Amino acid sequence: MNREHVYFENYAATWDRDRKEDPKKLAWIIDLLALPPDGCILDAGSGTGILVPYLRNALTRGGHIEELDYSGRMLDRARQKFGTAPDITYTEGDILKVSLPEKHYDAILCLNVYPHIGCGIEAFIKKAVHALKPGGCLAIFHDQSREKTNQVHQDGNQVGPAVLPPVDVLEMQFISAGLSITIAMDTDTLYLVKGEKKEIPAPAKGEPGISSQHPHTETKKVINRLARISGHLEGIRHMVEEDRDCSEILMQISAVDAALISTGKVILQDHISHCLVDAVHHNDQESIEKLQKAIGKLIK
Ligand SMILES: C[S@@+](CC[C@H](N)C(=O)[O-])C[C@H]1O[C@@H](n2cnc3c(N)ncnc32)[C@H](O)[C@@H]1O
Repeated sequence: MNREHVYFENYAATWDRDRKEDPKKLAWIIDLLALPPDGCILDAGSGTGILVPYLRNALTRGGHIEELDYSGRMLDRARQKFGTAPDITYTEGDILKVSLPEKHYDAILCLNVYPHIGCGIEAFIKKAVHALKPGGCLAIFHDQSREKTNQVHQDGNQVGPAVLPPVDVLEMQFISAGLSITIAMDTDTLYLVKGEKKEIPAPAKGEPGISSQHPHTETKKVINRLARISGHLEGIRHMVEEDRDCSEILMQISAVDAALISTGKVILQDHISHCLVDAVHHNDQESIEKLQKAIGKLIK
């Protein structure tokens, strides 16, 4: 047992008292994750089962929750609270070492665990992808800001040396492991990256990418960005429903706006290098004019 493991064993008895969860926020996050109502969910680094009531609420058509933690005492606390019901199992094991069954889970959730597994994050994400069903999701999230999370761990009050990185760093790690980003949020109160395991069929040879005329090389990148933007928009809708601070909402809207324009630029660049060159070569005036109009709209 390493120092960190001992720390959590000793903290189990008072974890719930000190944890200070915000039930509204956790309910909101679980809602945002849009878990399948009959899904099989792995709560990795589950602690005393803080997420269990929210997951049970979301699993309206059955489903199953697996609480995984290397601290036996944390799991004992969870067992005391939720008992040995058929919808829940408790697995004692190290997330970084335990072997997970292939294509088994609809969602793997890691709440407030990154600083403790960050040193092995790439291997963990790879393992999670292997264990997810196609269409399943991995969500790594914190119910406080990145700044606050890193502060807590740097203050030395807690163990856990890994620094929670900016969301785009984690996003790249998700994408490299074959996940499409569907939500990425880094706000004053929340850090969340959600990726979905998708099997995107590669366009067959000679088959179109984005347009009906030429193959593109950036299609996967564009799809990932658009998925991320729609997740972000969904988050903003929730913020409005929750009557959150207007300036915070406006900041998020401007982030989506900027992300859309930059996705447009990726499409444009791809189009220029694959289609426009061909259009100029064949003196295809109609295509050239169409593109001029589209560029005008994008930069106006
Ligand atoms: C900060 S607590 C978060 C617990 C819970 N998710 C919550 O938000 O209340 C981190 C949890 O991850 C567990 N943990 C840390 N590293 C782990 C590892 N390598 N394998 C399994 N569990 C781990 C700890 O035992 C602890 O329960």
